[in-house]
Amino acid sequence: MTDNLDKEEIIFQSRFSKEEVREFFKKDTKFYHTMNINGIKTENTRTSSEYQKWISQVIPNDLTGKKILDVGCADGFYSFLCEKRNASRILAIDQEGFDKHKTIAESGTKVNVNYFELFKKLLDSKVEYRKLDVYDIDLLKETFDFILFFGVYYHIENLISVLKKIHSVVNDSVFLSGHILESENPIMYYYDQSDPTKHGSAGEFAPIVASPQCLINIAKSICGFKNAELVDTISMPYERTYPHFFSDSNVGKIGLFKFSK
Ligand SMILES: C[S@@+](CC[C@H](N)C(=O)[O-])C[C@H]1O[C@@H](n2cnc3c(N)ncnc32)[C@H](O)[C@@H]1O
Repeated sequence: MTDNLDKEEIIFQSRFSKEEVREFFKKDTKFYHTMNINGIKTENTRTSSEYQKWISQVIPNDLTGKKILDVGCADGFYSFLCEKRNASRILAIDQEGFDKHKTIAESGTKVNVNYFELFKKLLDSKVEYRKLDVYDIDLLKETFDFILFFGVYYHIENLISVLKKIHSVVNDSVFLSGHILESENPIMYYYDQSDPTKHGSAGEFAPIVASPQCLINIAKSICGFKNAELVDTISMPYERTYPHFFSDSNVGKIGLFKFSK
């Protein structure tokens, strides 16, 4: 992990008072993202502000006039960050809908996806949300300068077809993050999802995980991206033992990538 990352926390501003924000955050549930609004932070979150900051290093600081697609947006932290960085249009999509107070099983934790709407309201945000599966992004009939594809690739069984679709709707670059296999070789691991007893309870592990070189080869040789690079890696920020670990350590790695046209 790069150590020259600035550690300053990303703080969003809201017209609501600190007390009002605190009241909104009190609701007893699990947020996916850490949000710091007017200095008040969500607690009980799946990802930390440090981790989100690490991911955010790959997104340009000035997005003036840029169009962004955030795939698998969850609570929307990265979409709201792009708005803060002056993007002109942001479309956030997720296969989960926010119409009901619905919870999804996300790697063993319950995530209330309705918090996207709460953050949107607190921030007076213009980010547009649509319930859409990434397999259908070609139906949008729209192109985007940058596409955020954070924490999603390992959920996608037909990754090549999806990355080809992403290539067809992106003008500049896609930023991707996700679990990686620690190997120099271009390899991919498919879990046997048919037998939950093998790899923990059903849905506990995403269907695939790939090595960095495998993702890079898919991006460049198969999907047509001109450049594909591994920007950085980080040890998995939460305790987890995945069956695909080869090494002695139980610490997995997450990779951060940039694929450009
Ligand atoms: C591990 S979370 C990552 C959330 C967020 N992008 C981040 O990095 O913090 C994966 C998200 O992707 C969504 N997702 C999974 N498969 C998807 C698909 N086929 N189409 C759209 N969204 C999907 C899930 O609903 C979930 O919100």
